[in-house]
Amino acid sequence: MLKVSGVEKKFGNTEVLKGIDLNIDTGEILVIVGPSGGGKTTLLRCVNALEHCDNGSIEINGRAICKDGKYVDKKTMAEIRKDIGLVFQNFNLFPHMSVLENIIEAPQKVLGMSKKDAIKKAEEILGFLDLEDKKNNYPFELSGGQKQRVAIGRALALEPKIMCFDEPTSALDPGLTGEFANLIKKLSNNGMGMMIITHDMEFAKKVSDRIVSMSEGKLQKGLIFEE
Ligand SMILES: Nc1ncnc2c1ncn2[C@@H]1O[C@H](COP(=O)(O)OP(=O)(O)OP(=O)(O)O)[C@@H](O)[C@H]1O
Ligand SMILES: [Mg+2]
Repeated sequence: MLKVSGVEKKFGNTEVLKGIDLNIDTGEILVIVGPSGGGKTTLLRCVNALEHCDNGSIEINGRAICKDGKYVDKKTMAEIRKDIGLVFQNFNLFPHMSVLENIIEAPQKVLGMSKKDAIKKAEEILGFLDLEDKKNNYPFELSGGQKQRVAIGRALALEPKIMCFDEPTSALDPGLTGEFANLIKKLSNNGMGMMIITHDMEFAKKVSDRIVSMSEGKLQKGLIFEE
């Protein structure tokens, strides 16, 4: 599903990623923990092609976005990136659009879906996320957990094979964190692979199939620190 090998990244003279090897299987939930500044977000950004690595290879669902530090052309990249979804820490919802509008935007623009089909799909997703009654509300009218579910819904509308989350529970209370963990499990049971960065060890242990630690630009199996 996701194959990362030998990925290196420098910012100026600072080596932030020092040869990262990582695989995620179908439906597998991989959690990455580790001290601040270790390179977790940079790795996530490289995997989503928001940042270009200097060296190494990244394959998403069997197709390379980058091989030995060389990236595919824009059009191929756009095609491959449909298979990977990213939920940002601050959710990045469109503030002037309702919940429904937030979700139907990408399928129409990226997948070329008709508005009617996009709405049908969005309504299914809203049902799955238990948000039917919020579809006409605006982001400012939602709680943190509801906003997060809309952000997940927006990513799900593109039917990615793999989803990435950067510190998804930082705005959630313990109850909502538990609900979020259940949602992640439900999605992975449907075959979606997950890459989740978190500082929340309890959540990491609850949700993960596998935990790796990252520090100083390197990955280690298992835990090297506990907060
Ligand atoms: N755009 C950038 N330009 C220069 N340096 C950067 C840039 N982005 C990240 N860095 C540096 O790369 C290192 C790794 O940052 P990164 O955000 O990946 O860490 P992190 O593991 O996600 O930390 P945290 O747990 O605090 O979110 C840090 O030293 C950071 O200052
Ligand atoms: Mg980070």
